[in-house]
Amino acid sequence: MYRSRPRGRMDDEVLRFLSSIQHDQSILYYDIVGSEAHSIMLHEKGHVKLQELKKILAALEEAKKNPGAIDTEGAEDIHEALEAFVIGHAGMQAGGKMHTARSRNDQVVLDIRMKVRDDIITLCGALVQLIGGLLDRADKSKDAVMPLYTHTQQGQLGTFSHFMLAYADALFRDLERVYNSFGRVNQSPLGACAVGGTSIDIDRRRTAVLLGFDGLVKNSVDATTSRDAFLEYVAAVAILAGTLARIAEDFIIWSTSEFGFIELADRYSSTSSAMPQKKNPDPMEIARAKAAVITGRLVAMLGIVKGLPSGYSRDLQELKPQLLEASQAAIDMVRVMDGAVRTLEVKKERMLAASKDSYAIALDIAEQLVSRGVPFRAAHKAVGALVGRAAEKSVPLSKLSEKEIGSVLKQSKLDFSPSELAKIVRGMTPARSIELRRSEGSPSPKEQEAMVKAARQRLAGFEEGVQKRAEFVKGSFDNLAKAVDRYLSS
Ligand code: ARG
Repeated sequence: MYRSRPRGRMDDEVLRFLSSIQHDQSILYYDIVGSEAHSIMLHEKGHVKLQELKKILAALEEAKKNPGAIDTEGAEDIHEALEAFVIGHAGMQAGGKMHTARSRNDQVVLDIRMKVRDDIITLCGALVQLIGGLLDRADKSKDAVMPLYTHTQQGQLGTFSHFMLAYADALFRDLERVYNSFGRVNQSPLGACAVGGTSIDIDRRRTAVLLGFDGLVKNSVDATTSRDAFLEYVAAVAILAGTLARIAEDFIIWSTSEFGFIELADRYSSTSSAMPQKKNPDPMEIARAKAAVITGRLVAMLGIVKGLPSGYSRDLQELKPQLLEASQAAIDMVRVMDGAVRTLEVKKERMLAASKDSYAIALDIAEQLVSRGVPFRAAHKAVGALVGRAAEKSVPLSKLSEKEIGSVLKQSKLDFSPSELAKIVRGMTPARSIELRRSEGSPSPKEQEAMVKAARQRLAGFEEGVQKRAEFVKGSFDNLAKAVDRYLSS
């Protein structure tokens, strides 16, 4: 339809090569509402007569109701297909006016901004849910003592709730990053036209308001060229995916028979075609892999925009599938993780069993010596030697006799009462280890309580903010739909 200068049809193979039709389905809806707002503005400014506007709007409403009727055969993209559909339904005299003072260059980025805006709202809403689920879990597992790991080796004792709160805190930062990208996405480029604006008297602010934008991407070169707001969003999404992959990895390890700390619900597990006993954490594994795929998409996007000249280049079309697929993958990941968290079973006894005989109380014991005046380095040496002795015999620290403790103290040249150290060691139960922890952010019950409370308050703030945005966007679209109805029935 666009071929005014080139003669004849485009080569079929070339058309297939450059067409974005396949990926444009997810922006069709936005192309329709964007076209409605633009046409209404053109009418208000006197460029389209009422009868013409009615024909255009009727055609656009028909496209909304029956998108399958839009003929995409031979079209380079959905913008071309939709305009051809409108001209087909409304006639050239009316339909041919729809693209006045507009270009696909401002149109496509308008559509994507509206789509990403919705995705941000959806993703933030899903994250609020997930964090809420983690906080519920934290609330219920403050007494579930389990080892904490560094280098995947037991480090200190902690609690399951401490892990849940750690995830929540990381996800709060992810949420904040995604949430904050909204402001830069929700600016209207419409009316920038091809690159240099237009001599036709249009009202860019009117279309921005009709479509629920916070403002304009003012400069027409910037509006049609820049994709930084999308890069920012996908960067935030890639970082989020990394957080989710870490949670997935923890769950995979903890659900092995060897650990047995958690069991994923059957609904969140897959199985083997051959081994009847299998219950596999496939959704967590897919989450782990998707984080890599999303990272790849971000890198592809950064590569596409790097070094492009100012003004629209067709390279930018290749950005769209990367952006939208990264976004959808993140939304899916968060939802699946939310369900997995809410339905998994916490095996407190297994966690306790792993904590009971663990050497992860070594630092607690050393700190008891410190509180009795022993320099930390000397305590570290003596307790390390104590663990060495216990490990040789494959027994927990509590099984060392007072005599053995005395001989280790002597070897370590630490002048400390063997009977007192024996008392400290035997008294260092997992529960005691946790009780003794007092620093801010530690797994002590008091800290856990306070962290859950503070997190809930913070979450409520985000929930309200997300809801307000969703209502605002929906309100704008509802108003636009009402305006369309008014014109159609006038
Ligand atoms: N399908 C194109 C895209 O997705 C739309 C813009 C095409 N503009 C142009 N001047 N060729 O980016």
